[in-house]
Amino acid sequence: MSDQVSEHGNGGATEVQRASRVRIGLLGCGNVGAALVELIGREAAAIERRTGIRLEIARIAVRSMLKDRGIAVSESMFTTDAAAIVADPDIDLVVEVLGGIEPARSLIATALQAGKPVVTANKELLANVGTELAAVADDAGVDLLFEAAGAGGIPLMRPLRESLVGERVTRVMGIVNGTTNFILSQMSDHGTGYAEALAEAQSLGFAERDPTADVEGFDAGAKAAIIATVAFGCRVVAGDVYHEGISNISAADIAYARQMGYVIKLLAICEQFDDGSVAVRVHPTMVPVDHPLAGVAGSFNAVFVEGEAVGDLMFYGRGAGGAPTASAVLGDVIDAAQNLSQSTHGSLGTLSQCRVRSIDELSSAFYLNLEVSDEPGVLAAVAGIFGEHDVSIRSMEQEGLGAQARLVFITHEASESSVRSTLKALTALSAVQRVNSVLRVIGPDS
Ligand SMILES: NC(=O)c1ccc[n+]([C@@H]2O[C@H](COP(=O)([O-])OP(=O)(O)OC[C@H]3O[C@@H](n4cnc5c(N)ncnc54)[C@H](OP(=O)(O)O)[C@@H]3O)[C@@H](O)[C@H]2O)c1
Repeated sequence: MSDQVSEHGNGGATEVQRASRVRIGLLGCGNVGAALVELIGREAAAIERRTGIRLEIARIAVRSMLKDRGIAVSESMFTTDAAAIVADPDIDLVVEVLGGIEPARSLIATALQAGKPVVTANKELLANVGTELAAVADDAGVDLLFEAAGAGGIPLMRPLRESLVGERVTRVMGIVNGTTNFILSQMSDHGTGYAEALAEAQSLGFAERDPTADVEGFDAGAKAAIIATVAFGCRVVAGDVYHEGISNISAADIAYARQMGYVIKLLAICEQFDDGSVAVRVHPTMVPVDHPLAGVAGSFNAVFVEGEAVGDLMFYGRGAGGAPTASAVLGDVIDAAQNLSQSTHGSLGTLSQCRVRSIDELSSAFYLNLEVSDEPGVLAAVAGIFGEHDVSIRSMEQEGLGAQARLVFITHEASESSVRSTLKALTALSAVQRVNSVLRVIGPDS
């Protein structure tokens, strides 16, 4: 980091400003990295005027030197040797947008130990070894910032760790995966089946060729672990997160949900209980149509935060995409550069080792969709099984299907274990042909 003197004409007078030049080593130049290069190119002068920090991308690490990245930078800035960038004494700050655990983890640790602040967007890395790297950053007295890893372009990490640091946050519920929200929105708005909606998401570039990480909830689970860690100040890793994806959601589920006043969303739900324990889960959830999360459509994301003093807050925007993610990375870069110039750094603070509850210890309302023989006494027998297992029914709908009938129930809040034993008893009943689907439901009493 070096000081630079520049002169700005101002109606005859000349203003002399001292700017701190910060040379950035960029690890990765894919969707996010290339968008960051463009954004810094466009905004560097305005950033310098506002902050006194002159940002310069000095070197860029990539895997292939042959790709055309569509950005106007000299070829000589590129290298395949990411470690050399981290070790370069002329690099002040490192941005990691490679993805994956290694070599990102080792490169970040080395940069931090050398006193270089690091900004990363790497969800997978942070959800697995984020607290380990945060400790390395604290020991070295430099920043490790990761706004983009929580909810992409939506500012969430900074509000949670700064604005809400004194707040008792009880629950954070988020639509944090644009691919699955796009698929569910298509199914809901156009009555399309899951496979058709997924194919459309793939053709529009909203879903990868292998969509597993998105549709099975792994991506949302990684974000949920990061969000819970920051919101509750305790260590939660990806392996602590229960997750179910959306691949079993049918057009019929969506239609029934709508009929009953709900939409189906893949939610990441992070909760903290009075005893200090937490629960973090990702699953398709029926959300009442009048809940603020219900209206979040297409590839948009939103995070709903509930705090004891502040009440309800919602953060909405683009959770992914090169430019929105680069915007969050750039905010962190400026923050880290300012801290560096003042020889200070931010910290996640002391993280507690809280107990993470298993899914079996949780409760919620449930939606159950069953096919039964259309015979006298079947409804009473089914309702009896709910009662025997302490699961009380809030509403029920019945539809004739020839010799069979479809029964759709919404329960009051019930424990996961009670619902599991109810399902076991129901499937043992000869009149129950099949259990089509079981979904968790939020509101009004959960
Ligand atoms: N895309 C988003 O919307 C989004 C949103 C939030 C967070 N993120 C996170 O941001 C990170 C980057 O995402 P992305 O979408 O930009 O990924 P990407 O398009 O796959 O880009 C990854 C970049 O890293 C380079 N790279 C990978 N391994 C390398 C290695 N060992 N040495 C040198 N270069 C290497 C690749 O080089 P080549 O180009 O030569 O292959 C590529 O330029 C990920 O952690 C992701 O989870 C992304």
